[in-house]
Amino acid sequence: LTAESYPNIERLPQYKKLTQEDLSFFQSIMSESEILQATADEDLALFNEDWMRKYKGQSKLVLRPKTVEQISQILRYCNDQKLAVVPQGGNTGLVGGSVPVFDEIVLSLNQLNKIRDFDPVSGVLKCDAGVILENADSYLAENGYIFPLDLGAKGSCHVGGVVATNAGGLRLLRYGSLHGTVLGLEVVMPNGESMNSMHALRKDNTGYDLKQMFIGSEGTIGIITGVSILTPPRPKAINVSFLGVDSYEAVQKVFVKAKQELSEILSAFEFMDLNSQKLAKHHLKDVIHPLEDEYPFYVLIETSGSNKEHDDVKLETFLEKAMEDGTVLDGVVAQDETELRNLWQWREMIPESSQAGGGVYKYDVSLPLKDLYSLVEAANDRLAEKDLLSETDSSKPVISAVGYGHVGDGNLHLNVAVREYTKDVEKALEPFVYEYVSSKNGSISAEHGLGFQKKNYIGYSKNDQEIKMIKQLKSLYDPNAILNPYKYV
Ligand code: FAD
Ligand code: MLT
Ligand code: ZN
Repeated sequence: LTAESYPNIERLPQYKKLTQEDLSFFQSIMSESEILQATADEDLALFNEDWMRKYKGQSKLVLRPKTVEQISQILRYCNDQKLAVVPQGGNTGLVGGSVPVFDEIVLSLNQLNKIRDFDPVSGVLKCDAGVILENADSYLAENGYIFPLDLGAKGSCHVGGVVATNAGGLRLLRYGSLHGTVLGLEVVMPNGESMNSMHALRKDNTGYDLKQMFIGSEGTIGIITGVSILTPPRPKAINVSFLGVDSYEAVQKVFVKAKQELSEILSAFEFMDLNSQKLAKHHLKDVIHPLEDEYPFYVLIETSGSNKEHDDVKLETFLEKAMEDGTVLDGVVAQDETELRNLWQWREMIPESSQAGGGVYKYDVSLPLKDLYSLVEAANDRLAEKDLLSETDSSKPVISAVGYGHVGDGNLHLNVAVREYTKDVEKALEPFVYEYVSSKNGSISAEHGLGFQKKNYIGYSKNDQEIKMIKQLKSLYDPNAILNPYKYV
């Protein structure tokens, strides 16, 4: 969807259009390889289009600085000249926040990618914002530590990008949110000033905790250039089991049992519905599903600890009990690293599988656990009622509406897999989904953020006073609104 598909949004005249003089300035502070310009053959699609191929901007310029000083100079200049800028990490965001809407300059962090320091006693890692998450984790692995966040996009997303979105991911249940693990940040403000707050302290009660303002701010008030984060020791023993159950009630029962029986070694509790596994099966073609029979719901449980024998006994006891009383109908436990990865892939491939048929409408919500799955049922009913849904009839836009997610964190992902993006589907789902979530006192974004997709819907999760204060902060730190315009604030 390009800006033209959104007739209610117009390019704001307050933003200057790029001139040759601006280019000359950037050329004076950066090398040729750090500046990418659109040409007749090069539309910069990699930077203009998002991961879902749902949003497409029209930027003519991508800047890829290698130093914090360059970022300061760029922002100071853009602020003076009123040139709009979109900060971009790995461009794996799922709400259209990382791509321009019109001709904003893309400021990519992908060349600011050095590990700065690691303390093997405290486990504090300091790195540039543009380090790819998987690279940070591999570096930590060599030192016996692990990055406290894991997600399917780890091969592309940046450490700075996950902090800017406050990504949750697959291990939040164990290690908590980035609001707890990030100890310090370095941020370049829209006027070019740099806030160096790269602390390594767990405890610091000296006034406002400024870094928190940037965690989850989605590139709207500053460019994160450095991250200091507390990392835990890498677990020596990891087990993964994949279970089939017959209802969402049973998913909740297994969760309670898992907390009781596995307690401190429980590191992930994910659920998937049958339709999500059907999409994954279709996408993974020749790969055999871990469970022979189909079940309405599946659960993936990961344990991690320091003593394999101890963890094995705990997991076995838990599974025996859960199967004896009929809560779990079938299940497998990975016997080696390959099987472990194989089981995880049936969870981690759902985003890609949902997208593969043409496109996907994504809703990432927090709901009280008892109501979590009811949203998927409500969405299915609504799409059927509007006659938009058919797995087989290709004249209908929707293939399937599936539910999965981090049930251990009360976070549901509703994915509506479509043959193509259409206004009919969007209208059927929005604001319907947001109204539903709000009526259950949930959040319309558990982890992906608001970005462009939910720019008009913040009111479903924040009250007027909260929105007023968000706007006040924005105008205090970015008075010319040059950072990430047309998005949620
Ligand atoms: P981008 O997509 O480039 O940017 C995201 C936002 O942050 C944008 O608004 C951008 O302007 C801003 N931004 C980026 N870098 C900076 C910076 N240095 N300073 C200031 N602002 C910046 N999310 C979850 O929470 N949990 C998951 O389990 C999860 N799994 C995913 C699986 C897949 C396959 C994919 C594609 C995405 C997944 N995500 C998940 C979405 C998630 O938001 C991103 O993967 C990640 O947080 C974004 O990092 P990025 O570097 O790609 O940032
Ligand atoms: C996930 O949990 O897989 C992610 O948040 C990404 C997604 O839902 O697409
Ligand atoms: Zn998720």
